[in-house]
Amino acid sequence: MKKLVVANWKMLPASLAEAREILERIDGCLRDGVDADLVVCPPFVFVEEVAQMLAEGALAEGASLGAQDIADRDEGALTGEVSGPQLVKLGVRFVLIGHSERRWKLGESDDVVNAKLRAALRAGLVPIVCLGERTRDGAWQEELAAQTAATFRGLTAGQVGQCLIAYEPVWAISTNPDAKPDTPAGAVQSMSHIRQTLADHFDVSHTTFLYGGSVTPANAKEFLERPEISGVLVGGASVHPEEFCRILMVATR
Ligand code: PGA
Repeated sequence: MKKLVVANWKMLPASLAEAREILERIDGCLRDGVDADLVVCPPFVFVEEVAQMLAEGALAEGASLGAQDIADRDEGALTGEVSGPQLVKLGVRFVLIGHSERRWKLGESDDVVNAKLRAALRAGLVPIVCLGERTRDGAWQEELAAQTAATFRGLTAGQVGQCLIAYEPVWAISTNPDAKPDTPAGAVQSMSHIRQTLADHFDVSHTTFLYGGSVTPANAKEFLERPEISGVLVGGASVHPEEFCRILMVATR
């Protein structure tokens, strides 16, 4: 199985011209023999143009389009939000759900995350569900288990089977003070904890797990060489084409 590399551009780049430049550089490294699955999640303002760019060149073979968020309803009743059916019409296939910046910086509760996850599944999108504890102090494993259970509450086994899970410890995300990456062993242990929490209700033996949090060209290999880790979710490094291409190279086996 190819490894999966997800680029989470967050609120970058500043212009469409820069987005094009990043994608041209990525197209170049795909032509240089990168063999990994790639998902690019641009900000909403660039989704339509990025969809067109991903339909050209080597990107057309190797890259899919993702969104960074979704409204928790399909009807047009939430000012400023973007619905699942709108994303699908633009060619979006994947969507990030419950990213820690939305949970902790914008106050998204587990219930909201759960409603967004349902909206993604209704629209036929592949949810990349982000889970992770805030710190490694105290009862962090209980926190992770509770978040996992609440995020997937009420879903069917078939629906859970359609999700990818990104383990992203909040303290490891590069936008947080003193962020540092988890160790591969630590990440694998947390993934197994998430798996056990879900296994009481669902069959997660085939669920794909990604690691995210300060992934760089220097540390990507040690995460990606673990068989339990199917890919990486990359924030900061994903808008720096040179760094990102090196991560894609590392993901190529
Ligand atoms: P980072 O972000 O790679 O900049 O730590 C990862 C993420 O927020 O998904």
